[in-house]
Amino acid sequence: MIVRRTVILTLILFITLCVFLMQACQQQDNRKKKRTVARQEKPEDLGTIAALPTVFKSPEYNPSTAEKVELGRLLFFDPILSGNKDVACATCHHPEFGYSDMLELPIGVNGTGFGSKRQFNATNDIPFAKRNAPSLINTAFNGIDEKGDYTPEGAPMFWDTRVKSLELQSLQPIKQLEEMRGRQIEEHEMLPVVVKRLKAIPGYRKLFKAAFSEDEEPVTEMNMAKAIASFERTLVANNSRFDEFMRGDANALTASEKEGMQLFIESGCALCHNGPMLSDFKLHVLGAAENEEKLGFLDSGFNNTFAYRTPTLRNLRYTAPYMHSGKLKTLDQVMTFYEDLNGKPLPNPHVPREQLDSLAVKIKVEFKNIPRIIEFLNTLNDDKFDRTIPDAVPSGLSVGGNIK
Ligand code: HEC
Ligand code: HEC
Repeated sequence: MIVRRTVILTLILFITLCVFLMQACQQQDNRKKKRTVARQEKPEDLGTIAALPTVFKSPEYNPSTAEKVELGRLLFFDPILSGNKDVACATCHHPEFGYSDMLELPIGVNGTGFGSKRQFNATNDIPFAKRNAPSLINTAFNGIDEKGDYTPEGAPMFWDTRVKSLELQSLQPIKQLEEMRGRQIEEHEMLPVVVKRLKAIPGYRKLFKAAFSEDEEPVTEMNMAKAIASFERTLVANNSRFDEFMRGDANALTASEKEGMQLFIESGCALCHNGPMLSDFKLHVLGAAENEEKLGFLDSGFNNTFAYRTPTLRNLRYTAPYMHSGKLKTLDQVMTFYEDLNGKPLPNPHVPREQLDSLAVKIKVEFKNIPRIIEFLNTLNDDKFDRTIPDAVPSGLSVGGNIK
């Protein structure tokens, strides 16, 4: 009896040990798999994706200070920067919409309303802005490469990379007819007019003095640009679940999201959507549809080649509708666009197939993989960004422009 019981007990112990060992081995195996995905080391030519840095850099000539950021925030929300005092940067880049606007093409001058409800006023001769408004979140990292290197002085801006750095970018929309200037003021007069207005407001004189105390005349175009850029650099969201996973938290993604990440790479997406911003910041011809009907003319991209810059894939929750033309409403539609690249005629009839980017030719999206790739893309959302809206702006105008 006793002998039999001992045998049974030993057997049970042995089986328990086996099960335990098997589980341990499996976990070890899983961990190995996770590390491989995280490192993305092979095959190298498919591109490498990575977490964002935890801190951002500023240009040497414009170190970040609390005073500049505060001034920049007020300027950003103040329609005093626009010709008719009706449009602020925040009109098209609003915190509620991830510093974008939810429209296909933005409505600046002579518009009323907020987000997707924004419309031109009844009598209108102002066109839509030419391209879809990008989110400003993480633009501090524009130009970052696969190794995490970047120079804020040379950061590419806009869908065609025509302007370098947040500082230089920030003066452009002010001068642009349909974005902020309107028809009352000539383009070359616009920035001097704005500077003159700011100088006449005691609140701004004080804030500029505090931010640029070493300058004899602190209220200048360049200091306005420096302050706005300093504010924009603080709009960082670098703790998506994807970032947590890449930094070592193996449980930050579900099994099917990890699979989606693998499929994203295997489908060729990371050939262009690589590095910590999931963008190579280069120009590519994809032949996506243009928005001629809204624009009233044909946008032809960089140097009339229909090339556009690879956009970041972070915070896609806020960048819909998609592409430079805003013509694709959902991620499903974007994925179908990529699936169709392989064989179907391109949506832009002005782009012959031979002109398609050499990397785009390598994209292979299988219909059955689309849901998991989208699941992965959603892990790149991070809602923890600064949404502070000032209660008032020094001009006394309505915060964010005509967005009621
Ligand atoms: C009428 C809407 C509108 C207003 C107002 C506006 N923008 Fe934009 N913004 C856009 C559009 C559209 C683009 C893309 C244009 C392009 O690529 O050709 C853009 C692009 C940008 C970019 C480039 C982001 C990137 O990754 O390339 C930055 C930065 C930016 N805007 C900041 C600002 C600032 C600062 C202001 C205020 C001084 C401002 N915007 C006012 C619509 C607007
Ligand atoms: C050849 C380079 C390249 C490859 C490969 C590529 N993309 Fe893109 N992607 C771009 C460019 C360029 C755009 C902008 C095109 C435009 O606006 O006309 C874009 C736009 C997008 C957008 C819209 C983002 C927004 O905010 O509007 C998404 C989403 C996207 N790509 C996902 C993917 C996925 C998923 C894959 C893999 C199936 C992929 N891309 C493969 C270059 C590429």
